[in-house]
Amino acid sequence: MPWMIVTDLDNTLVGDADAQQQLNERLTLARVQERVVLVYSTGRSLASYRQLCEIAPLLTPDVLITSVGTEIYESGSEQPSSQWSEQLKSQWDRNLIVETASKFRVLTPQTDTEQRPFKVSYFLEASAADQLTAELSKALAQAGLSTQLIYSGGKDLDILPEAANKGRAMQFIQDHIGIAPSETVACGDSGNDIALFLGGEEHGIIVGNAQPELLEWHAQTPSPNRYLAKAFYAAGILEGLHYFEVNL
Ligand code: GLC
Ligand code: MG
Repeated sequence: MPWMIVTDLDNTLVGDADAQQQLNERLTLARVQERVVLVYSTGRSLASYRQLCEIAPLLTPDVLITSVGTEIYESGSEQPSSQWSEQLKSQWDRNLIVETASKFRVLTPQTDTEQRPFKVSYFLEASAADQLTAELSKALAQAGLSTQLIYSGGKDLDILPEAANKGRAMQFIQDHIGIAPSETVACGDSGNDIALFLGGEEHGIIVGNAQPELLEWHAQTPSPNRYLAKAFYAAGILEGLHYFEVNL
C-alpha cells in the first residue's frame, strides 16, 4: 500500500528551500513508483496558493486542500469537489456569520481573496484571542449557527462550518482513495493543523518551528503517533519520516 503524505505548506513544507528540494526529490521518486499519494493542505485560497507556487518549488499534488479544509481539488481540477461542499452546507449561513462577527470591533477582516464560500476570516491579535473566541462562539451559537473557530499563527481567526477543517478534509480523501489513517503521515506547524492530528492514528509530524498554539496543544495532548521534530520546516518533515521509519 502507498503512504499518503498530507502536508501544510507555509512554515511546514515551505521555509527552507534546500530541505524542500531534498524532500521533493524523494517524493518524486516515490510517486513514480506509486508508493506515495501527495496531498497539500493549506489555509490559503486557490488564488493565494497559486501565488505561493510562483515563489516556492512546489510539486503538483495528487489532491489539493485549500481554505483550511473547506475546498478540495482533485489532481489539477479548477473546480472544488462538489461532493465535499454539499456536506458543508447544513447550518451554514455566511451572511449571518459576517453580521454576527461585525459586532466585534477587535476583528479585522482579511482580504477578499481569503473570504470563501465556507470560510470567513479575520485578523485578531494574540492578546485578545482567548476572550474574543469565547465571546464570539457564544454569539454565533445564540444566533443558531453551528460553526467552529480556528486560531492560527498568533494572528488569523477562521470561522468554518462544523463539518470542515483540515482533518475532516483529510478523512474525506482517505475514504475516497481507500487509504487507512495508519498509512497516512500528516505534517503541520500551526493552529489550523491541529485537526490533522485529532484522528490519532495518523503519523503526525510537528516541525520544530511550530507556533505556540500548536506546541501548547501537543504538550497537553501527547500521543505516541505524533512526533515533534527538532529541525525546522521540510528538514523537520524529513526528520519525522525517519523517526516513523517511513522510507521514501
Ligand atoms: C492562510 C489563509 C488565511 C487563514 C490562515 C490561517 O494564511 O490565507 O485566510 O486565516 O491561513 O488558517
Ligand atoms: Mg502553516
